[in-house]
Amino acid sequence: TRVYIPLDSFAVANGADEIAQELAKLALDRGLEIEIVRNGSHGMAWLEPLVEVETGNGRIGYGPVEPGEIAALLDAGFLEGGAHDKRIGDPLDHPFMKGQSRLTFKRCGITDPLSLEDYEAHGGLLGLRRALEIGAEAIIAEVKESGLRGRGGAGFPTGIKWETVHKAEGDKKYIVANADEGDSGTFADRMIMEGDPFCLIEGMTIAALATGASKGYIYLRSEYPVAIRVMREAIRRAEAFGWLGVSVLGSGHAFDIEVRVGAGAYVCGEETSLLDSLEGKRGQVRFKPPLPAIKGLFGRPTVINNVISLASTPEILAKGAAYYKDFGMGRSRGTIPLQIAGNVKHGGLFEVAFGLTLGEIVETIAGGTNSGRPVRAVQVGGPLGAYFPRSLFDTPFDYEAFAAKKGLIGHAGIVIFDETVDMAKQARFAFEFCAVESCGKCTPCRIGAVRGLETVEKVIAGDRPAENLELVEDLCNTMEFGSLCALGGFTPYPVMSAIRHFPEDFNGTPMRVA
Ligand code: NAI
Ligand code: SF4
Repeated sequence: TRVYIPLDSFAVANGADEIAQELAKLALDRGLEIEIVRNGSHGMAWLEPLVEVETGNGRIGYGPVEPGEIAALLDAGFLEGGAHDKRIGDPLDHPFMKGQSRLTFKRCGITDPLSLEDYEAHGGLLGLRRALEIGAEAIIAEVKESGLRGRGGAGFPTGIKWETVHKAEGDKKYIVANADEGDSGTFADRMIMEGDPFCLIEGMTIAALATGASKGYIYLRSEYPVAIRVMREAIRRAEAFGWLGVSVLGSGHAFDIEVRVGAGAYVCGEETSLLDSLEGKRGQVRFKPPLPAIKGLFGRPTVINNVISLASTPEILAKGAAYYKDFGMGRSRGTIPLQIAGNVKHGGLFEVAFGLTLGEIVETIAGGTNSGRPVRAVQVGGPLGAYFPRSLFDTPFDYEAFAAKKGLIGHAGIVIFDETVDMAKQARFAFEFCAVESCGKCTPCRIGAVRGLETVEKVIAGDRPAENLELVEDLCNTMEFGSLCALGGFTPYPVMSAIRHFPEDFNGTPMRVA
């Protein structure tokens, strides 16, 4: 019997490794014939570790399984899909899964992440094989036509970025996957690297064919030890298979990939400081221009894409641009892996076409708060994203719609707070975060974050709140328009949205902002 126990960090943090050991030992003791597969997560975080058994009636899931519980599950006949209060049936039939359109994450949780056989059996390598057939120009045309925009947060069209690198002159070109997923409440990059690493490798190889790059780097944060291990092993297997190396699947095009581990600075997720860090320097933001696409890693033309942007391209190539573009709304095409976290009943990863309203996501999909109290604020787009009140719950999940409400969708992290949240403390936290993580290169951010923190503290202490809030607003204007990168430039979003939408938390002083 085949038993799936996730290796995903959600599951491991809740005892999946212990559960796997327990099952192996009990199987030996009881003489049971089982094969344990360490799969990725389906993304239903509240059910992890979600253990699945392959039965005559398909896969049956049990979760959340706790260490020490395996003996009782075996006694209940779980290897045959027997009844138990943790039994959830086929995970793919769960309402949380049924509501999704899984394009990028279609294999995550289902396959053995390190089996190339499994990968190909579930549609893997179809995109790369088509890319090899049609060649660079046609790949770029397809990605442009799909409407795919950068999933790291900025939403720049991926096809145009690839075209710039394709046309740039250079004796060597690079593909860099930005896997420094630093936004609080986000985990999509991690989940795909742990649960379907070949998908990222396939996307990077397609990017290499499109641009003429011969070397790829995955800049992976040290906080993701499981992803580091799985990615390295997947690369090794892809090399042994003849996929990566001197001749990609016998095409004559050389491409290899290396994992480089970051050291934990948030700013190293910014593309130019990431390049500095990759080059062995201290991660500090570079002036733009030149764009990395023209002069990037070691001064050569470089594609830097977020993990999810790259991992979305195999499906686009395999099924065609029209198929992908059919999902979504306005200029936000395709699907987006929402990452739902915070004080929430059903947290996890939900891949869906753009266009659901924030209210649908928070109330219907996530099921409201875990505490049972009403939702008060939702921060979208990481620590630099705006806080949205309930009155903005009709905002559709779309790059432009969020920008119109002075927010951003960023990397699609959604963190939910109930009515006990103190928004003045959240504004204080935004400045504190910026002060700690600032690279120090430009004045508005380096000095502004510290002064902002002090000034919000004065407001909290009741020291001339109206006057000090005006100072905060002025400071936010300077930071937004005067900072060199998004860290200083977007810190005003959480601060000003907290003040604008929740003035009662700032000693009742209404703001003069529009
Ligand atoms: P940006 O708007 O400056 O650039 C977007 C991308 O397009 C860059 O890669 C840039 O090099 C490229 N680009 C621009 N014009 C181009 C052209 N003509 N040809 C080729 N490439 C071109 O934004 P930036 O500073 O790179 O990113 C800011 C975003 O990062 C924010 O929106 C924020 O949401 C997000 N972010 C994400 C985090 C995460 O953990 N994923 C953490 C912090 C911020
Ligand atoms: Fe560095 Fe902050 Fe300026 Fe960005 S905004 S360059 S992190 S000092």
